Amino acid sequence: MTDFHAAIPKAELHLHIEGTLEPEMMVALAARNRVAIPFASVEEVRAAYRFTDLQSFLDIYYAGAEVLRTEEDFHDLAAAYFDRAAADGVVHAEIFFDPQTHTHRGIPFDTVARGLFAAVEGAQAKHGMTVEIIMSYLRHLDEDDAFATLKLAEPWLDRFVGVGLDSSEVGNPPAKFARVFAASRERGLKLCAHAGEEGPPAYIHEALDVLKVDRIDHGNRAMEDPALVARLARAAMTLTVCPLSNVALRNVDTLADHPIDRMLDAGLRATIHSDDPAYFGGYIAENFRSVAAARNLSRAQVVTLARNSFLGAFLTDATLAGHL
Ligand code: HPA
Ligand code: ZN
Repeated sequence: MTDFHAAIPKAELHLHIEGTLEPEMMVALAARNRVAIPFASVEEVRAAYRFTDLQSFLDIYYAGAEVLRTEEDFHDLAAAYFDRAAADGVVHAEIFFDPQTHTHRGIPFDTVARGLFAAVEGAQAKHGMTVEIIMSYLRHLDEDDAFATLKLAEPWLDRFVGVGLDSSEVGNPPAKFARVFAASRERGLKLCAHAGEEGPPAYIHEALDVLKVDRIDHGNRAMEDPALVARLARAAMTLTVCPLSNVALRNVDTLADHPIDRMLDAGLRATIHSDDPAYFGGYIAENFRSVAAARNLSRAQVVTLARNSFLGAFLTDATLAGHL
């Protein structure tokens, strides 16, 4: 039976497609592509998923992505995700991919893009879901590498809705990417950045002031800075919060301590998403369900969170109206 948390229509705005690589698919693609992985079984893969912080996760996440080689692999990965998302009540998805994770291993940008867009067309036909793709720059690499990626993306730019910024946050502040974000905006792309996941509230200010982002990914640590909370609330800035990720990466101790309702109470336009669900224990409906139970959220709060996901989406006004 489909429960309320799966049934309520929602937009997925914070989902790394590489983070939907389930252990079963990792093992199957390793065999299909004859790629060696340091795990003998699906159980061994799962057993490795005990993280202490963001970096301990990223090391495994990048290693897992090694099995993704062909256009078909990227298609199969994304198609499996869209099937799960549809079952979770996702009617619109704006998904990230990390081109540099693949181009640095010699996989052509076009191979990745062709596979992903083939799956997008399939999801639209099969589920009636609308999908946008956001290409995310890796912040542990330098800005020139991001510029090279923007150049590789040139033939695809009218098909991407925006750019993002992810990977190791602390020590890689938003300002490091000021020029490439300005160039991305000039090309008509929307801008998001992970900020305030592990990094300080100052990184959120910087994402707003220097990168001029349209959306903040995570943003939990804004709660340490009342002036920043007031600013984000005034700007109706969307924060794409990922409760199961926050627990898995030890940004909050337990779901019972999660700030999601305090963020809403403070006037923030917070939303709930899944980040890297194959690694963190659940897709979007499970994020809704488990944090709602742990924080005793009311139906009205859950409705607000789902509604905020559409308000935060990069939809045209006419399309947005159809979802509200
Ligand atoms: N944070 C930063 N980078 C990431 C994440 C995340 O949660 N998931 C995938 N890349
Ligand atoms: Zn993320």
